[in-house]
Amino acid sequence: MGTYTSKKLLCTIAALPVFLLVCPFTVSAERVNAVAEDQTTLIIYYSRTGTCRIVSDMLKQSLDADVLEVFDQKDRSGRWGYFTAGLDSMLNRYTDIEPSRPDLDSYKTFIIVSPVWNWKLSVPIRTLMHGNRFDGRDLIFFTTGNNEVMKYEKYDDNAPFLKRYLRDYLRKKCEATKLFVQTTGGSIAGYYHVATKNRTLQDIELDIQKHAAAIKQRLDTRLPVSMAKHREDAGQ
Ligand SMILES: Cc1cc2nc3c(=O)[nH]c(=O)nc-3n(C[C@H](O)[C@H](O)[C@H](O)COP(=O)(O)O)c2cc1C
Repeated sequence: MGTYTSKKLLCTIAALPVFLLVCPFTVSAERVNAVAEDQTTLIIYYSRTGTCRIVSDMLKQSLDADVLEVFDQKDRSGRWGYFTAGLDSMLNRYTDIEPSRPDLDSYKTFIIVSPVWNWKLSVPIRTLMHGNRFDGRDLIFFTTGNNEVMKYEKYDDNAPFLKRYLRDYLRKKCEATKLFVQTTGGSIAGYYHVATKNRTLQDIELDIQKHAAAIKQRLDTRLPVSMAKHREDAGQ
């Protein structure tokens, strides 16, 4: 018994320097975890025909992010689904979605992936944003559409009437979306778009990859929230 106790004592003494060495690392690892938790990112996506699902999958692969799919309870498949989607979008209607009130509290940054419907965010994504608050959070938008959103930006005021009209029309749509996002309390931290019409899947995926790398860089070089807050408080 006596030998056992002294052996135990010897082991404890021998283990002490190891414990003292490891201890500071344990503390700093906890700090790192605290920062990482602060930075958690959620990808929220809706997809009617699968393109935004590809975007979401590829973003998930390159970012350390959780994923939430939004399901429209209305059947949007086929021609009738296309028609009702267009109509609901045109009339700024909302729809029944699942989940409607997900737990978003632990996320600091949201990447919102949506198809463009009538040059707006799709109705299910607008519904989710309308029904939830994003105060003080960063929102990065990623849309897919047939065409480029910036297609007509190259035209100046000397361009033919139709080109100018379409340029101004798209600008107005973008402004309306910005105003809508403001009502959710979130701030737009980035916007990415991929056009799909007459393009191969390979080309589309290359674009998504490029944007995913840009978003990753953006998230990696972002100040930890606590540090940003400290700088803000210090008026820097
Ligand atoms: C109702 C409706 C309206 C659409 N409006 C636009 C539009 O205004 N501009 C555009 O470029 N594409 C538009 N599209 C095409 C989709 O944005 C495009 O096909 C998108 O990549 C589909 O994404 P998904 O496969 O994830 O549903 C529209 C599609 C639907 C169903």
